[in-house]
Amino acid sequence: MQALWNAKFRGEEPLYGDAPNQFVKENFEQLLPLQNVLCLGEGEGRNALFLADKGLEVEALDISDVALFKLRKRAHAHYLEIKICHTLLEHWNPSARYGAVVCTYLHLPKEKQKMLFEKAVFALREGGLFMAELFSESQVNFHSGGPKNIGLLYDLNDISDTLKSLSCRVLKLAQEIVILNEGRNHVGRASVIRLIVQKVTLVC
Ligand SMILES: C[S@@+](CC[C@H](N)C(=O)[O-])C[C@H]1O[C@@H](n2cnc3c(N)ncnc32)[C@H](O)[C@@H]1O
Repeated sequence: MQALWNAKFRGEEPLYGDAPNQFVKENFEQLLPLQNVLCLGEGEGRNALFLADKGLEVEALDISDVALFKLRKRAHAHYLEIKICHTLLEHWNPSARYGAVVCTYLHLPKEKQKMLFEKAVFALREGGLFMAELFSESQVNFHSGGPKNIGLLYDLNDISDTLKSLSCRVLKLAQEIVILNEGRNHVGRASVIRLIVQKVTLVC
């Protein structure tokens, strides 16, 4: 896994561009009062750099040390501080201390997808927000990037079922057609799932 992603990130140019993901950019103001944010599967750091520049305390988790090295270099160049967590999501033991968790395009095999949502929501403090954009299974019909294997794509109903089992309130969960313009790798019409959930204590 690490070798595969390291090979993809070897080039000079950022794979998904410099600009933050559009959904994150459109919604970051909701994160500002939440103080600290963890970016999962953050790669070269386009969201992390953007959010740190907006004044949030940012931590970035990823398995690719090549991507994280580039992230660190870019942060340094912009006088931004970003904490780095170099690990596989599978090995990470979250503690509930983040105001927000952000995740764009972290594509895991079906049997591990539930874990992503469980860990992201668990990592939040009460009232914290989890914001994500992921390719849907319909992305196999488009040529704008993302995995070609349906087993690495997300199903809206599966996500909805998973979220029902977690201590959270769904503020947004939608499958949308968007036009991507993210570096060389995400370009054109795409089918994505966008979600924002808030951690709450459920009273039965
Ligand atoms: C498609 S890239 C997206 C990068 C970044 N979120 C963005 O949108 O620019 C997926 C990222 O997830 C990381 N990744 C994939 N599987 C992972 C895992 N199991 N644990 C931690 N990171 C992982 C890869 O190293 C890569 O940086």
